This record gives sequence, structure tokens and C-alpha cells, in this order.
Amino acid sequence: MPIRTRISPAGDGRPAGEIALAEGAELVAVPVRPGPEADVAGLGVSPPVDPAELLAFHDAKGEAGEVLACPLRLGDRTAELLLYGVGDGSPGALRRAGAALARRAKGREHLVAVPPEGDPAAFAEGLLLGSYEFWIGEEPRKRAVGAVTVRTADRAAVDRAVIVAQAVAQARDLANQPSTDKGPAWLADRAVEFAEAAGLGVRIRDENALRAEGFGGLLTVGAGSPRPPRLIELTYEPEGGADRHVVLVGKGITFDSGGLSLKPTDNMKTMKTDMAAGGAVMAVLRALPALNARVRVTGLVAAAENAFSGSAMRPSDVISHYGGKTSEVLNTDAEGRLVLADALAYADADLDPDEVIDVATLTGAAKVALGLRHGALFATDDALADRLLAAGEAAGEPLWRMPLVDDYRPGIDSEVADVANIERRGYGGGAIMAALFLREFAGKRPWAHLDIAGPARSTSDEAELTKGATGYGVRLLLTLLTTA
Ligand code: BES
Ligand code: MN
Ligand code: ZN
Repeated sequence: MPIRTRISPAGDGRPAGEIALAEGAELVAVPVRPGPEADVAGLGVSPPVDPAELLAFHDAKGEAGEVLACPLRLGDRTAELLLYGVGDGSPGALRRAGAALARRAKGREHLVAVPPEGDPAAFAEGLLLGSYEFWIGEEPRKRAVGAVTVRTADRAAVDRAVIVAQAVAQARDLANQPSTDKGPAWLADRAVEFAEAAGLGVRIRDENALRAEGFGGLLTVGAGSPRPPRLIELTYEPEGGADRHVVLVGKGITFDSGGLSLKPTDNMKTMKTDMAAGGAVMAVLRALPALNARVRVTGLVAAAENAFSGSAMRPSDVISHYGGKTSEVLNTDAEGRLVLADALAYADADLDPDEVIDVATLTGAAKVALGLRHGALFATDDALADRLLAAGEAAGEPLWRMPLVDDYRPGIDSEVADVANIERRGYGGGAIMAALFLREFAGKRPWAHLDIAGPARSTSDEAELTKGATGYGVRLLLTLLTTA
């Protein structure tokens, strides 16, 4: 479901309390910087308690995420004043502050907020992302706040935050959707809807088209499922043309059982989000027109279900990928790289991009190495890597660069194919080995690979993240594609 909370700027100079009074808001929020007390001057109404005393009483530090409440009289109504900490005022702190407010405002219809000093877009983004809700069946007891009025004249910042947050919410929705309702064709249908809504080009290759064109990785991985694979291709072309073409490739495994190399239940139960990266690519494409991006972008989503059945691929199978390179399947649970190989080879051979970036929940090893916050970045081009690192930092979706260790390349040698899909020499470094496999198919163009197995999911509501799918990658890629 899209984010329910509507957010609007109110740059008319009226005090927040007055707006709240006029608009019937139940909550008024003002920022608290660490050290100096909440500046409620200009609020337009007076709280019954001195905010400084309240802060001292609670020993509040003004840290991002802190929210203190005290009752407030608005005309003849009871309302609440929320004092929210802003920490160091960095975009990350403001996202956290906004999200904390959103959580505190759950169940209410209207909040009026005095924004903190600093980036109003980060604050608004936090508010919206913290309001994200996904449920199946009955509505949650406390729904997200209905409306937020932010007292800022910076309409553009709020507009951008809305577009970005809605894109993140779309990516979260796609990934949170249970897999019984979510096969490759379902995902392709959503892509067609996105294309229609945003005015993108779209082409869906079904299993027949994939067979005719030699997409052996997608076909082989998808062979175990009654729901056949799809290659989704979305295209965005800015008005007036562009001098750069970026191809984004997303892993779209709609459920990863492991295949015949079956996963244990505990590892399998989160695998509806194994298409999180593909969903992120779709959501990014969907948002590019509204953000008026100046670069041409093609989004490829390699969608298949890695199922366990009599028609499933078998360890020892050999795949002929798009363009003819072959791989030996030694573990059917290393399926992501098999479908990505097709898409990467296709991008290189047919799309003539200036750079290629693939995103995938590819290896448990990346999660072990970096935990749940950082995506693992591999790149053949330092300039591209640096731009991605900077975009991740700015967007609050951090990346950490990892090495493509040439010495390990023999680890994926195969006697019967060009490359093996798992490593056999005991080098370890599972995320690196997967990246080396992908590199074989990426060609000579600048290429980057984001292994997001860790940050694609959150184990709890935390800052702007919500439990389950996080939409990781959307903010990062939108930042990359809309800044020079
Ligand atoms: N989708 C998984 C990777 C994954 C693991 C994502 C945990 C999110 C959380 C991927 O397809 C996979 O199963 N990878 C294997 C590779 C191995 C067989 C070489 C893995 O990481 O165990
Ligand atoms: Mn797998
Ligand atoms: Zn997988």
C-alpha cells in the first residue's frame, strides 16, 4: 500500500500553533537541539509546562529519535506538543527524527511540524518512511498519521521527499508481498502498471521469447516452477534526450527455496524478499520522470522462481547463457548469479550502456561480512564506485567497497563450462566469488555490483526503516541518477 500520510509545506509564516488550531491538528511538533532547549517561541500557543523544564525532568538530550510530549490547549481542544530531538542535525539524524515523530503520531489524523534547521527533505523523508505500513487482512489498530503539515517554504524539498518515499514504499510493498501471490508474471504485471503510470517504455519477455533469444540462465532457474520466468525491461528517456545511458539490473527471484539444493526452513522463510533488488529497480524507474532525471536509464529485472520440483535444474547441469557463455550449476541455491548473468550479457551486447549497475540479494556472505546496514559494493571502475559511495552516504543507504580479488578467479573454474556457479577451492569470501562470477558476463564497460542481502531487510522498526523489506537501493540510485 502506498504511504497513507499526506505531507504538505506551509510556508505562509503563520506560527505552528495557529496552523494547528486552524486546521484542527491534534499534534504540534518542535525541534530540540542537543544542549539548548526547545525553541517554542513563535509557536503561537503556550504549553502549560515550560518545555525546558520538561526536558530537564526527563533528562532529555535532544538526540535524534527522542520525542517528549506534553499536553497543549488549542482553543477549546486538547492537543499535544511534541518536542523532538534532532541530534547533530545531519540528514541521517533528521531522517531518524522524522521517523520517530511519525511513529509517535500513529493513530492521529493531523500533525503540524516545525522542521529542524538543515535539510527539510531528509526530515520529510523520515516522516514518510517511518509512516510506511504493510499488512494483510485487518487494518492495524493504529494507522499512520493522516496528514503532516511542515512549516517550510521549501516546497521543492517536500515534493522530492514525497516522490522518493513513495518509490521506497513501492519497493517495500513488492518485496513484502507473499510469494504465493507473487510469481514472475505478477512482477511483470506490476512493471507494466508502473510503466503506464509513469510514461516509461516497457517490454516483457515471456518464456517463449526467452527461449527464442537464448536466455538460458533465466529459463534454467525458472524451470522448477509452474510459474515461468520473465525478463522485465523498463526504459526512461528524458525529454530532450540525454548524453549518458545507465543500465540497472535487478535480481528478481520471487521466491528462493534453494531449488534441489534446498534451504533449511529458517533460511527459506525470508526468501519472498529475494526480488527486493528487482523491485527497487522498478520503483527507481517509476520515479525518474517525476524527478526529471537527465540521464537515460534502462531497468532490467531478471524474474524467476527458484522452486523445488521434478523439473527443477540439477546440480551438474550446464547452462548456456545469453550470448553463449556457459556455466556449471554446482549448487542450485546460487541461482541469483545465473539469472543476472543473462541480463548482464544482454545489457553489454545489445543496449550499449555507458555503465551498468546490478543490484541483488546475492549472498548470505555479504550479510555476514557487513551486517544489515551496508550494501557490499564491487566495481571495475573507481569513478563509478566513488559516485555510488557518495550517493549511498548522502541518501542514508551506505555502501562499503569490497575487492574483486583476481587471485580467486581460479576458484570458479569449471571442467565442463566457462565458469562454475560456486567456488570449489576453499578460498571463502562468498560475496567476492559471486561478484567474480558476474564480472565474467559484464563485459568491458564500467560495471558495479551491489550485494544487498543484508540491508534489503530490517529485523525491526528502526529509524526510517520498517520491519521487513526496506526498499534499500531506491534512495541511493535515485540520488545517483538525479545528481551530476
Ligand atoms: N538469496 C540468497 C542470498 C541471501 C541469503 C539473501 C540470506 C538474503 C539473506 C542466494 O540466492 C543464495 O542462496 N546464496 C547462497 C550462495 C551459496 C550457495 C554459494 C548463500 O549465500 O548461501
Ligand atoms: Mn539462493
Ligand atoms: Zn537467492
